[in-house]
Amino acid sequence: MIAATDIRVTKTERSKLQDIDMRNLPFGKYFTDHMLEAEYDNGQWVKVEIKPYQHLMIDPSLTSLHYGQSIFEGIKAYKDEHGQALIFRPYDNFKRFNISAARMCMPDVPEEIFIEGMRQLITIDKDWIPAKKDHSLYIRPFMFATDAMLGVRPSQTYKFLILLSPTGPYYPKPMKIIVEEKYTRAAPGGVGFAKNAGNYAGSLIAAAEAQKQGYDQVLWTDAFEHKWLQEVGTMNVFFVIDHVAITPSLDEGTILDGITRKSVITILEEMNVPVEERHINVDEVTRAYTEGRLQEVFGTGTAATIAMVEKVKYKDVIMEFGEKDWTLSAEVKKRLDAIRDGKAPDTHGWMVPV
Ligand code: COI
Repeated sequence: MIAATDIRVTKTERSKLQDIDMRNLPFGKYFTDHMLEAEYDNGQWVKVEIKPYQHLMIDPSLTSLHYGQSIFEGIKAYKDEHGQALIFRPYDNFKRFNISAARMCMPDVPEEIFIEGMRQLITIDKDWIPAKKDHSLYIRPFMFATDAMLGVRPSQTYKFLILLSPTGPYYPKPMKIIVEEKYTRAAPGGVGFAKNAGNYAGSLIAAAEAQKQGYDQVLWTDAFEHKWLQEVGTMNVFFVIDHVAITPSLDEGTILDGITRKSVITILEEMNVPVEERHINVDEVTRAYTEGRLQEVFGTGTAATIAMVEKVKYKDVIMEFGEKDWTLSAEVKKRLDAIRDGKAPDTHGWMVPV
């Protein structure tokens, strides 16, 4: 077993921090001075190191490049008003990471590397946590197969890394989404619940076609009827109908068990807003809109946080929303931001000090 003290640390000789304009931080563009890297070989994790951010040397036959055994997580760290760095619900991401790993025939990453490694890495690079509203330090743990061979079988060796990226909002503006009727993201028995790289590769063409029509992302539907709503490209989705917040249920394994999604459910319940996790059909949503009963639609995700939705298109029905409609989403965002910034009590123990 690896103890946190077994992580070898080599610090950079020159920080890049002064080269970055911390007032302008597009999502995922800049990386901090250090990264964590660990190797899995012979059934155990070895060589756990924090070192200066650098390129990797890889063999061109690396199995993850050919067959996609690659998973990741997205987590955020914030600084409270006393300058204390706090990570939002990292244990939930840790659990989900190992669920993705199991589905993709990859080894578990132990807590001593995932959580303790992350804590040590953030401690070293804590000056990179932006202080600005809607900004944070985005944490990207990921693992990929490193066997150099072309046979299709689970790799026996892996690398696990953690990168840190100071970042602003993923969607700086309210979103326009289109209900996807041609492509499929996930079907029961597939990998929709896992955060594996291939899910995102498969989604690119649908998002590109949506963008050609002036939309930001697609709202995925089921594989059989293209009617049952799943999630938006990079986030879970909520519909507020008759003042009830409805979000697609996780039971089919076709959507991601979002950490922001479940935090929002908790906050809505605390606000005494009824929440339903269930199957929801696009016809129910369009009917509610036509009858004036669809109050708002919003997305939730680590990168996206709470994303207001201004337009949803399904066939020739265009559902539009504006500032005055985003009441519940704005209130939920305010409450979540207050917990993250340390301005409201963290009654659920979501904020983990580094
Ligand atoms: C996240 O919200 O952290 C995600 O992983 C979405 C990402 C692909 C931008």
